[in-house]
Amino acid sequence: MVTSYRKYLKNQAFPGMTEMETDLMKGLPLPLIQKPYPENANLIDLISPQQFSIGRIPLIDAIRNRRSRRKFKEKPLTLEELSFLLWATQGVQKLIRNGLITLRTVPSGGAMHPFETYLLINSVNSVRHGLYRYLALEHKMYKLSCDDVDLPAKINEACNGQNFIGKSAVVFIWTVRPYRTEYRYGEDSLKDILISVGHICQNLYLACESIGAGTCSIIAYNQKLLDNFIGVDGDDEIVLYLAPVGKVQ
Ligand SMILES: Cc1cc2nc3c(=O)[nH]c(=O)nc-3n(C[C@H](O)[C@H](O)[C@H](O)COP(=O)(O)O)c2cc1C
Repeated sequence: MVTSYRKYLKNQAFPGMTEMETDLMKGLPLPLIQKPYPENANLIDLISPQQFSIGRIPLIDAIRNRRSRRKFKEKPLTLEELSFLLWATQGVQKLIRNGLITLRTVPSGGAMHPFETYLLINSVNSVRHGLYRYLALEHKMYKLSCDDVDLPAKINEACNGQNFIGKSAVVFIWTVRPYRTEYRYGEDSLKDILISVGHICQNLYLACESIGAGTCSIIAYNQKLLDNFIGVDGDDEIVLYLAPVGKVQ
């Protein structure tokens, strides 16, 4: 039986962290909250959280009905629904520490929020099919790729042939930029990152339930194919988790 991985379930340096000298301890500057984006990016406005008219079902019903959904209706999401799901998963509520740290709709160890959100948009009203990136600080998104009709087929292939993924209205793909957590937690970053990303997806599940949509966590994928799919290097930025979303009602 393989058990050697179990050491990664344990904290390496806590409590005390005396052995470890993190970049925070060295007094190095905080890493950027968000990966920079091209100056000429054409930013797409999303519906602001203050304007949401959706997602108002009782929390108990969302929790009661939550299920992993792999069958989606051929119905588009509205821009408000997509905006709501992006905000529910990574939305910024507040900037603290002179604008260097964010507080969001989900928790993250040390409020480091080391994640970026990419979207494969197949069917969202008034949004062209393609690959996009969400900018949590701006609550906007921009398109990464030119139209590629094969994107759904490519993501299915990258996810070991789980063909329901490409049939969704939108696929959320979360990457981690590990340095944002390593800066603070050094060798203890692994648990922190993996636990934190789970909070994001759980919010997606519950937010989906509240708008008649469904999602399914996906961890079975080919790392290289998916890193290439969204154009990250697989080291400074690594695909970590994804979740297709579609209407189920
Ligand atoms: C970390 C994680 C990874 C998962 N990966 C996949 C996956 O790759 N494909 C899939 O169809 N379901 C995946 N699932 C969904 C589980 O199969 C599902 O949660 C489980 O069967 C229980 O069903 P429920 O979510 O409806 O309660 C994953 C769930 C989690 C939490």
